[in-house]
Amino acid sequence: MKLSEPIEINGMKLKNRIGFAPLLNMPAGEGGYINDRTIRWFEERAKGGTGLIMTGTVAGSPPRMPVQQGVFGFRGIGLYDDKYVPGFARLAEAVHSHGAKLGVQIGIIGSVMGGRGPSPPPYPDEMHATDDLFYIMAGRRTPHMEVTIEEIKQSQRDVAAAASRAKAAGVDCVLLHCSHGGATGGCSFISPYYNRRTDEYGGSWEGRLRHPIETIKKMREAVGEDYPIHVRICADQLLGKRGITPEDTTRIIVPTLEEAGVDCFDVSQGDMIRAGEGITIPLYYPRGCFIHLAAAVKEVTKLPVIGVGNIFDLDMAEKFLQEGKADIIYMGRQITADPETPKKYFEGRPEDIRKCIGDLGGCGNPCTINYDIQEEPIPLTPAKKPKKVVVLGGGVAGMEAARIAALRGHKVTLMEKDSQLGGMVATLALNPLTSEFGNIIDYLTTQIGKLGVDVRVCKKATIADIEEMTPDVAILATGSSAAIPEVAQGKLGIMTHSEASRNRRAVGQRVVVWGLFGVELAVSLAEEGKDVVLLGRGGEGSLGSDLSMARRWWLFRKLTDVNVPRETPHAKRVYNPEVLYSVEVKDITTEGVKVEVGGNAERKQVIPYDTLILSQRFGERRTNDSLFGELQGKVAEVHKIGDCLQVRGIKEAIWSANEVARKI
Ligand SMILES: Cc1cc2nc3c(=O)[nH]c(=O)nc-3n(C[C@H](O)[C@H](O)[C@H](O)COP(=O)(O)O)c2cc1C
Repeated sequence: MKLSEPIEINGMKLKNRIGFAPLLNMPAGEGGYINDRTIRWFEERAKGGTGLIMTGTVAGSPPRMPVQQGVFGFRGIGLYDDKYVPGFARLAEAVHSHGAKLGVQIGIIGSVMGGRGPSPPPYPDEMHATDDLFYIMAGRRTPHMEVTIEEIKQSQRDVAAAASRAKAAGVDCVLLHCSHGGATGGCSFISPYYNRRTDEYGGSWEGRLRHPIETIKKMREAVGEDYPIHVRICADQLLGKRGITPEDTTRIIVPTLEEAGVDCFDVSQGDMIRAGEGITIPLYYPRGCFIHLAAAVKEVTKLPVIGVGNIFDLDMAEKFLQEGKADIIYMGRQITADPETPKKYFEGRPEDIRKCIGDLGGCGNPCTINYDIQEEPIPLTPAKKPKKVVVLGGGVAGMEAARIAALRGHKVTLMEKDSQLGGMVATLALNPLTSEFGNIIDYLTTQIGKLGVDVRVCKKATIADIEEMTPDVAILATGSSAAIPEVAQGKLGIMTHSEASRNRRAVGQRVVVWGLFGVELAVSLAEEGKDVVLLGRGGEGSLGSDLSMARRWWLFRKLTDVNVPRETPHAKRVYNPEVLYSVEVKDITTEGVKVEVGGNAERKQVIPYDTLILSQRFGERRTNDSLFGELQGKVAEVHKIGDCLQVRGIKEAIWSANEVARKI
């Protein structure tokens, strides 16, 4: 197996070819210090079998604009002063104690997003509402200033000093960040899109590459010949010819950086301001969708190449290695969600891996599917006294509660009224766009099976059934139901979101999806060839407002005309589904759905339909909690979790399950 083969990079011996990608989701202490939580974060991943642990970007220079703090809510880690060295030394020791190596990612000055770019950008006529999502999250627009030559030189000295501090602390390699477009100084300088300088640091490839190259040379002087320097490149800025293209990368960037003395290429892509889908990749994208870029880089260099992007599956990673597309595979979100991914794989139990669902709803702070990835989880301890626990409802919340209760030593029975487990999440996973949701269902189904939970499907439990089982604890995970609006009651061709998802063949050719919750269903039905109209109650801004930034971004690009600057193969502007915003449904007749658009009585429309799908927001659904009252006095402890408690998303379902099951 290639994945378990060692590899050497300029003297650094990695025990295998799996790396934890640089992610700015690590915990950090006040003042940029590494604290116990930071150590635990990386140590858990080293212990889980990852060969190379890379940190997210640390500050090589004193931070002027801590934009990352505002955006991700994480505190950055510093390396711009000797006072940070002891923390890194502790971290290196902890990582080494599990046979892994530690790398540190450092950035250079010039990040457009950080407010000091190579030239005064960005082109107000080209700024777009979608692109601004990042700024909206940061809570402000960043003023833009041009980096001076003195600042460039200072930054180079800073980064070189930071690299030598890393080496002194026992860190095994350093990674210079030159990817992700406007997010980093390295990429902002290299990119023809952002760097419009006319001095020696712009104007040509030679000029635009000068700042990174001088930095690499200074780093080399600082760390010596026999210390690995990696560079993360932006092999495709995903802005077409206006940005860095794969051809620029293979023809100019890779040979030039190799010549400058780097030891390894980490091949990434995208632009945090304009093409975030290359960095925080939405679950709509295929697995391994960017590996072709690493493969292209491998064609033009003999140096080791790292591939990354939507790789949640080590079988796929192994195949990429065997095909010669990369020498090492980085996993970011997967190793965030399950730090033991490599260990479980190498032990021949891949079914125990909690596979990432790619929804980007927290990404470590917290993690949608792993309750333990947060500041202070309730500890998982053996039960003081094993109890008889009955869980009613086999959706994600019910299955997670059953898993945790069984892990703690309780005797658990789970009853589900349907023939299948998974509830609403399993239903959503039937949509090809969100099929990654199926990962959590697969994981939970396997785990409760292994733990000996007595699972009874096709069983809608009555009070008598429950009483007969004489449980000590009843956990209600009975979910929620769609409430049919009065205007739709008794009308023909109406389906709820779940019904339509489960029985797509029954969906007619002309489809109206009522409610922006159904945006992903609407897109996938349109992709199947249906003619779809999506009706939103709110304005354009409410599109995807319940979703993570990256999902929302993609949907905006695909479905709105709000300053859409470009198209990418995976986010091509489409006019089917047609989206109508600020819509009020007045009536539903055999002629069609009669609507008023934009609160304007003049703008009446009749939309003919074969199927009208009710895709209601969380707040419009009804909790199925009638058993709660009925069980009082009959079972000693009764709890509600998941949608039955409050209709919300996957993370809350998993959270509420843990909050109950870890305490009983
Ligand atoms: C929350 C988050 C933070 C990230 N922070 C960084 C970072 O600090 N430096 C960097 O080079 N890439 C960063 N990335 C990109 C990742 O390194 C990686 O390329 C990306 O997540 C795709 O890999 P994956 O699909 O295995 O997660 C970040 C990605 C995410 C989701």
